[in-house]
Amino acid sequence: MASTKICAFDELEENQAVKVEIDGVPIVVVRDSAGDVFAIGDTCTHGDISLSEGFVEDDTVECWAHGSKFSLKSGRPLNLPAYEPVPVFTVELINGDVFIDPTPHYVTA
Ligand code: FES
Repeated sequence: MASTKICAFDELEENQAVKVEIDGVPIVVVRDSAGDVFAIGDTCTHGDISLSEGFVEDDTVECWAHGSKFSLKSGRPLNLPAYEPVPVFTVELINGDVFIDPTPHYVTA
C-alpha cells in the first residue's frame, strides 16, 4: 500500500500520542525524545480503547483503561491484561514530512 503523508515532522510534539486514520485504519503516532517516529495500531487489544488517549513513556504507550503498555517499536504488550500485539506501521521521513504505510505488520519474535 502506498504511504500517506500525515504531517510535518515539526508538528509532532515529543512524547505526545497523536491519532490518525489512513484508509479507515486507526494509528497512533509518537515522536520520541530521540527524534524517532513510531506508528502502531491505535486500538488496545484488550478493549475498544484508543491508545492515543494513553500515556507515553520510554518508547511505550500505556492504555489508560487497565494499564497495559505497548512497545512503540514492536507493538507488543509488555504487561497484562492485554496479551495480543497491535500492528506496527512503516514510517518514513521525507523532506521533513512524516509518511506512514497503513499496511499492518506484526512483530512475532
Ligand atoms: S482496554 Fe486496554 S488494557 Fe484494558
